[in-house]
Amino acid sequence: MQTHQFDAIIVGAGGAGLMAALYASQGGANVAVVSKLYPTRSHTGAALGGIGAALGNLDEDKPLWHAYDTVKGGDYLADQDAVKVLSEEAIDAVIELEHMGLPFDRTPDGRISQRRFGGHTSNFGEKAVRRACNAADRTGHMILQTLYQQCIKNNVRFFDEYHVVDLLMNQGRAVGIVAIQLGTGEFHVFQAKAMLFATGGWGRVWQITSNAHSLTGDGTAILFRRGVPLQDMEFFQFHPTGLYGLGVLLTEGIRGEGGVLLNRNGERFMERYAPSIKDLASRDVVSRAIYMEIREGRGIQGKNYVHLDIRPETVNRYLAEAGESRRIDDAYVAKNLAETLDVCRTYVGVDPLKDPMPVHPTAHYAMGGIPTNVDAEVVIDENQTVLPGLYAAGECACVSCHGANRLGTNSLVDLVVFGRRGGKAIAEFVKHADFTPLPDNPTGEIEAEFERLRSSKGKTRPGELRHMMQQTMMDDVGVFRIEEGMEQGIEKVRDMRERYQNDLHIDDQGHTFNTDLMEAWELGCLLDLAQVTAKSALQRKESRGAHSREDYKKRDDENWMVHTLVSTTHEEAYPKGTLDLNVNLNKKVNTSLADEDPRFLPKERVY
Ligand code: FUM
Repeated sequence: MQTHQFDAIIVGAGGAGLMAALYASQGGANVAVVSKLYPTRSHTGAALGGIGAALGNLDEDKPLWHAYDTVKGGDYLADQDAVKVLSEEAIDAVIELEHMGLPFDRTPDGRISQRRFGGHTSNFGEKAVRRACNAADRTGHMILQTLYQQCIKNNVRFFDEYHVVDLLMNQGRAVGIVAIQLGTGEFHVFQAKAMLFATGGWGRVWQITSNAHSLTGDGTAILFRRGVPLQDMEFFQFHPTGLYGLGVLLTEGIRGEGGVLLNRNGERFMERYAPSIKDLASRDVVSRAIYMEIREGRGIQGKNYVHLDIRPETVNRYLAEAGESRRIDDAYVAKNLAETLDVCRTYVGVDPLKDPMPVHPTAHYAMGGIPTNVDAEVVIDENQTVLPGLYAAGECACVSCHGANRLGTNSLVDLVVFGRRGGKAIAEFVKHADFTPLPDNPTGEIEAEFERLRSSKGKTRPGELRHMMQQTMMDDVGVFRIEEGMEQGIEKVRDMRERYQNDLHIDDQGHTFNTDLMEAWELGCLLDLAQVTAKSALQRKESRGAHSREDYKKRDDENWMVHTLVSTTHEEAYPKGTLDLNVNLNKKVNTSLADEDPRFLPKERVY
């Protein structure tokens, strides 16, 4: 075992982690980033179409309008103090990225180009607004490259392909982490005054997902097992346009550029579900509409998908119908949606310039996660009590600026705004904090768990269990939910967790890049998060945002303007417990904007 010491450790090298590392290092801290992936392979690269900021480069825009859309899109569950920060600081964050060298697309007069995106409007819902600042349809990827270069310039130390597997606590505070070096199998202890988790989401809980194989919620599960409650886990977003059968993301930017969704009759069905902004309604609304069309037999050829059409002749017809003067051609699509063309041609042999794309909803983004305040400090109860030394930002965190449903482009805003705030807070914290001693035998528990896994010689392969979990969560805790289904899902996942503990089979006994072992460990994280998700969903007896219950079809603001906080004890969760879950419903939604402006009060959502 090797031991390292840094002022601050950042776990995860996506946009939030890199932004936090950059700001913590600029503030004088000695910082290391520990990541199971090479940084530029992080999942931030999958956020394609743009980063939202009310720059007003092409249409009049204001941060307050951005805040309104975010609160409405989140079905009024977002904490409005966090939304205010998000929408106001987005502007400066985007300009800062530009100054760091991010190659944004340009307007003819040289300003950052902006496009439309779902749920983003001007003047409190009046009409769609161009707010998404984009670099073709590779915006997230460009953010990663830019921030990584800046971190290197600022002497941030990188431990790539070190898989973090435990959080170390002592005297009521976070004091370090344990990681496995994937190339050698060796355990490393990192002692730090502060650590920030930015480990992304857990879309791999579901069968059809836009998330990469690495999105297994490790950081979230690690903190949960160490006693941190998880907030609003019932809210998991299905993006409307995943490539049929695969789930690979086709950006909302396609609809932002004028693309339309069509059913088997060639009908632009979103006109019925969202008469005002149609295909650009919020994602929960569009995903449900697609499923309704499929359920009612209007999927293409009666199958489980609809068409997404960006062919210029189709788009231009609808633009003309809407009285817009803008027209597009093949060259425009090829330039602005280059990644889309590439993905469709490569994965399904469809050329979007010639044929419509086959799409259906795909599990995409966790609105819930590790509870934090607006400075990315992890909080552990409804009173926002801070756990000293522990921070989280990006998708794994729940600040909660997205509420029950995130608007497209706001994930990138979230990670740069709250990653930056986390980095600044850490730089201040480490100036005054001392190192707290590590616990005795810091790797004891986690090494024992890995030895147990490595020597498992039962009958069940991890891949088999993973498949069962993904199918169960798709069927029982997917877009539409009902009590009996969720109860059944909870039971099934509980059984799977038992098989995981008592009947697993691992073949590879080696130490060098033992993916068999690491994937088994990741599966344990996914199973824990699946169980927490299902339990939270069962508990919330209403429909709101991405949580749509067939037995409680309406939103219930009287009883449910609260966040769910699900916790368990370390002994129950780790390493072999039964995962008894406690649900706390005492955390009220922050409504600070509504206190000053009644337009932010909950009302029926109409798009
Ligand atoms: O559709 C997209 O380009 C995805 C972006 C996002 O999730 O924000």
